[in-house]
Amino acid sequence: MKVEVDANRPLIPIQPTMYGIFFEDINFAADGGLYAELVKNRSFEFEYPWMGWKHVPESETRYNIRNELTIYSNAKTSPTNPKVVRVDKRDASKSIGFQNEGFDGMGFKAGSRYDFSAKVRLNRGNLTLRVQLLNTQGDVIGSVDIPATSASWSPISGVLTASETVQKGKLQVLFLGEGQLDIDVVSLFPQDTWKGRKGGLRKDLVQKLADLKPGFVRFPGGCIVEGRTLAERYQWKKTLGVVENREILFNRWNKEFSHRPAPDYFQSNGLGFFEYFQLCEDIGAQPVPILSCGLACQFNSSEMQPLEDMEPYIQDALDLIEFANGPADSPWGSVRASMGHPEPFGMKMIGIGNEQWGEEYFERYELIAKAIQVRYPEIQLISGTGPFAEGELFDMAEKELTRLKPALVDEHYYKPPQWFLDNAKRYDTYDRQRYKIFAGEYAAHPKGSDRPESRNNWEGALAEAAFMTGLERNADVVYMTSYAPLFAHVNKWQWNPDLIWFDNLESIATPSYYVQQLYATNAGTHTLPISSNGQVIAGQSGLYASAAWDAKTQEVILKIVNTSTENKNMILDIRGISKKSTASVQTLKADQITQFNSIDRPGQVKPASSVWEVKNGSYSISPLTFQVIRIKK
Ligand code: AHR
Repeated sequence: MKVEVDANRPLIPIQPTMYGIFFEDINFAADGGLYAELVKNRSFEFEYPWMGWKHVPESETRYNIRNELTIYSNAKTSPTNPKVVRVDKRDASKSIGFQNEGFDGMGFKAGSRYDFSAKVRLNRGNLTLRVQLLNTQGDVIGSVDIPATSASWSPISGVLTASETVQKGKLQVLFLGEGQLDIDVVSLFPQDTWKGRKGGLRKDLVQKLADLKPGFVRFPGGCIVEGRTLAERYQWKKTLGVVENREILFNRWNKEFSHRPAPDYFQSNGLGFFEYFQLCEDIGAQPVPILSCGLACQFNSSEMQPLEDMEPYIQDALDLIEFANGPADSPWGSVRASMGHPEPFGMKMIGIGNEQWGEEYFERYELIAKAIQVRYPEIQLISGTGPFAEGELFDMAEKELTRLKPALVDEHYYKPPQWFLDNAKRYDTYDRQRYKIFAGEYAAHPKGSDRPESRNNWEGALAEAAFMTGLERNADVVYMTSYAPLFAHVNKWQWNPDLIWFDNLESIATPSYYVQQLYATNAGTHTLPISSNGQVIAGQSGLYASAAWDAKTQEVILKIVNTSTENKNMILDIRGISKKSTASVQTLKADQITQFNSIDRPGQVKPASSVWEVKNGSYSISPLTFQVIRIKK
């Protein structure tokens, strides 16, 4: 096979946003994941206020006979976080307290330091909090004593150092002495967070995101945007300000799948919209927020905001733009400034609605879109085609969107690997004049074994790599793409496959992660013509290929995918490249398509580097392999 590439003829620009990230709080991606808080239900606001907590000593009966630990509601003074624990200790000789189980336990690292904090009010007597880290057996591996001194609500804090590394530890708080106090917002964070921020994000997980070099971060989803009902939709204004005052929200993945129930899944919103914008800034990605369009999830209630009453939704969108981009003395810009960021975040795009369909969606989209266009014509609008990649609803969406002309149109496809191979030419025939595509959620869904990570096997990742040659080739139509979902806790997931798996201490990159990373770090700036026998290379003999030009480094970048089980030989005839050149090659491959990475075996499928001497262009690619070749011009 002869493959022809013309390095002298850069065709179309590849957008810097081409490869991005989709973030949604699913699979314990935020609380219990990226948001480094170790305490579950720190404010006692879950449906059942003691969820995640255990009394010490454990009551012999189901009942709290002595009323030493009770819950009461402080709704007048603290409407968004009303519940408080009252500790009433009448016998100084006895030890009482509570334990928190964390999110499937708490990960502690030997020698690492942890910040404990709470809000406390001493009503009478003398009480000291003995705060302890416990290992899996319940032994104390870190301790600090903090006296309660203030008769009015005051913050208390202490630092604990773990003496052991533990995957499933716990936090214990004992109350010593005699007296009565009220306590709320019981929190424990590692000090070693991303950028060392207090109450910040988990460092290893953010590093994995930064290493993807994403062009954008889509947030907060996903179906979370919509809510099962409108009351449960994601409301960005409720995620700002002092963390302890942010109202917690039922997580729609809590009950979504009966085979993976997660009754303890709520959103603390500690990772809210400010932290999201800050994360984008940290990792050099553009923010792409997606907002509710006034239509709750159509797989759930389909609750609709009446068309004549859309004002709150329109205002939410306008206010978000001001929060992100407005001057520090504007109403919402000043909220941003008060949280520590007077400079604008420079948001350029906003999405209205997630996976919605039907005229009910387009009517609501249009109302919000018009208001944004009038006030902020520079903002690019994203609209969606719904959950299906083809079919009646997709066709209707295409028609409506041709009329509405959003800047970008969001398409989703979760499909078997074969679909990705068959659809590598999907965008070759798209109308160039219509709108640009944001492939905002996609992943190949192969079959797996009984291990959840096994669905992130090489078969899926290889199919994605092949499909992505078609995204790149069509960079004049496809402006943005993101794999979904992003994160999953190995024991607390609801949906798989996912890009990054983690437990309480470690995280691993899946083969799909490496595919995304190889594309994003070798995106190039323009496409180059590449063909065989005058045809695009999209499945002939199991081969897929694309070519890009990097104007910054003056390099040709080839991506070649061999999905067949045979070695393939070819002549790479690259016009404009010297035969004396040496190319760097990165190879991602596995011996079997069922191979996957896991926490105990993280390196089963990972990139390896080599070189290729161009000479007469003779090139060979092994079976089931994805390669990225870079050659200096
Ligand atoms: O990525 C998981 C879910 O898939 C998203 O929440 C939703 O948009 C899609 O159905």
